[in-house]
Amino acid sequence: MPHRDVHNPLLFEIAWEVANKVGGIYTVIKTKAPVTCQEYGDRFTLIGPLSYKTAAAEVEPEEPTTPHVREVLQCMASQGVRYMYGRWLIEGAPRVILFDTQSVIDRMDEWKGDLWNVANIPSPPNDTETNEAILFGYLIAWFLGEFTQRERDKAIIAHFHEWLSGVAIPLIRKRHIDVTTIFTTHATLLGRYLCAGSVDFYNNIQNFTVDEEAGKRGIYHRYCVERAASHCSDVFTTVSDITAYEAEHLLKRKPDGILPNGINVVKFSAMHEFQNLHAVNKQKIHNFIRGHFYGYYDFDLDNTLYFFTAGRYEYRNKGVDMFIESLARLNDRLKACNSPMTVVAFIIMPAATHSFTVEALKGQAVTKSLQETVKDITDKIGQRIFEKAARYTGGDITGAVIDPSELLSAEEKVLLKRRVIALKRNTLPPIVTHNMADDSNDPILNQLRRLHLFNNPSDRVKVIFHPEFLNANNPLIGMDYDDFVRGCHLGVFPSYYEPWGYTPAECTVMGLPSITTNLSGFGCYMDETIENPADYGIYIVDRRMKSVEESIQQLANYMLTFAQKTRRQRINQRNRTERLSDLLDWKIMGMEYVRARKLALHRTYPDSFAGHDLSDLHNSKVKLPKPLSAPGSPRIRGNNGVYTNTDQIADSMANMGFNLNSNNNEDDDEYPFPLPIRRRI
Ligand code: UDP
Ligand code: G6P
Ligand code: GLC
Repeated sequence: MPHRDVHNPLLFEIAWEVANKVGGIYTVIKTKAPVTCQEYGDRFTLIGPLSYKTAAAEVEPEEPTTPHVREVLQCMASQGVRYMYGRWLIEGAPRVILFDTQSVIDRMDEWKGDLWNVANIPSPPNDTETNEAILFGYLIAWFLGEFTQRERDKAIIAHFHEWLSGVAIPLIRKRHIDVTTIFTTHATLLGRYLCAGSVDFYNNIQNFTVDEEAGKRGIYHRYCVERAASHCSDVFTTVSDITAYEAEHLLKRKPDGILPNGINVVKFSAMHEFQNLHAVNKQKIHNFIRGHFYGYYDFDLDNTLYFFTAGRYEYRNKGVDMFIESLARLNDRLKACNSPMTVVAFIIMPAATHSFTVEALKGQAVTKSLQETVKDITDKIGQRIFEKAARYTGGDITGAVIDPSELLSAEEKVLLKRRVIALKRNTLPPIVTHNMADDSNDPILNQLRRLHLFNNPSDRVKVIFHPEFLNANNPLIGMDYDDFVRGCHLGVFPSYYEPWGYTPAECTVMGLPSITTNLSGFGCYMDETIENPADYGIYIVDRRMKSVEESIQQLANYMLTFAQKTRRQRINQRNRTERLSDLLDWKIMGMEYVRARKLALHRTYPDSFAGHDLSDLHNSKVKLPKPLSAPGSPRIRGNNGVYTNTDQIADSMANMGFNLNSNNNEDDDEYPFPLPIRRRI
């Protein structure tokens, strides 16, 4: 084995969501890239799958500049592998290699046989996702195998995310490829599946017969990949304490540490710019609302609040069931107290559809033509007023000022009436914007129907289910997701299963209050880090100690209290929420990745670290950011800046009522690097 330089290592970060948007992992990779580029420069390359549909918009192709990478890719291409090499068009412009898994589909059977022989991982024929994962994994192992033969000076770190990229890890181990590996899981497959059902997951976590449960759900082979990746990696990590706890029980390896998710925080030069953006984007949502509710637009937009939930469509895991139930309670309570407020609740979750409904499109069309007609008429009125006034030549001034009764011509009145008549409708404003592929079985629609949330004029809570992610080219809500979030008032994410949960974190950095739970990685992180999160617009629903009914009540209460705030209070709260963004910045969170990489190098090349034992890593302090502004800043809960380890978290989870089987004989070395920063201000 060559002696490799561990102080200037090369880093490959590998994930199925590199330049390929699916969910939160894309956000992790994309938003973290700038800090990693800053640290590694040309030594950093991302590897993902080549999806021809999106690659052109995501990546600017170029020739590989590193000779070894070029040689390996040429060698692979000569054997039929298609790939794209270039710069990912995001901040930091990292280098990416995207492999076309379909170009090696003819090797599928051979590789499946090999996977069984080397790792005892079975692979049924019809699971497309697993087939893709196998092709991708073998391509990665092939690439890294060839690359390590050529690059013999520098240490190489291969950091894998999630089971879909994990097949390569047992292969690397079996083939003795000279790289050090990190595997970060962003959930466990079994945890996600179990929670989506109706089990009491957290209280039974030690009791599941994992192989059997995976088998029953038809995911045994995927589970094998995930388990092999976590056991064969040099360093195994996950994104939150709660998922670490889950991984320990379901994957049977206790993670070496936690890599919480950060965000690339954009700071505006003007302090209140984010407030202005709220006002501007709220107007755009208002426009959509006028169209959507045409014929029933009898509520005051100045007294209307926009709540929303968003994410992949996981009805129970994302807590949509709880959100809708609580909305019904909120509706009753706002009616009961004769509130002047209207709440419009959006549910943005992609589902199978046959495009927009005619009714939803019509709403935008009729209000748009009304708006255009009004604009034409007002332009003409302006012209007429001007003409009359400009013709004043002295004498009686009254003749120069148009009589108000002459403002509208007879034709204009007719035209305006015609536009107004088009606003009449016989149906209520729709609760869904698209034609659902399976309307009658859709859980969200069925719950809305059961609770009679139909957008009746008497309802103080209106609902709009938009079963597609947002984008600015959309003919209904023509806004990108971030702009939409800014225009709203409250994000509601009452998840039951949520390893991290970017959606409330994104709200926070945009200065938008949100509701999360103590079963989400983000919620727990904020709860541990801030003395009283609610003061800062982070409301945490207790889904651990409370019954489902109590949690629903708590959520409804949070929403009601929020709806009763004055505009001034909402503005103040947004200011406070926004102040938390520093906490979530990758400049801080990214330090945990730095530690994980150090640990991996340490474990694989211990001789190169002679004189530095692991405890150095354990105790080393991360540079703290400059303190937040003194008055009104969050008081960060903590332990005087000293890191805790996950055993303490396990204790606190036990105190919170979890049935923990905590093993106190754990070797300290099992958690060689600490948990995220806790600091006291
Ligand atoms: N998201 C989006 N467009 C939308 C709604 C959501 O891009 O219309 C993104 C959102 O910004 C977030 C991701 O989807 O980054 C969801 O990540 P999260 O961690 O909350 O959940 P996951 O889907 O990974 O379980
Ligand atoms: C921002 C703007 C204000 C606006 C306010 C509305 O703070 O800067 O000009 O009045 O938003 O807040 P609201 O919570 O009512 O949407
Ligand atoms: C997963 C989890 C989500 C997390 C994301 C990024 O998709 O479901 O909670 O935020 O990964 O780590």
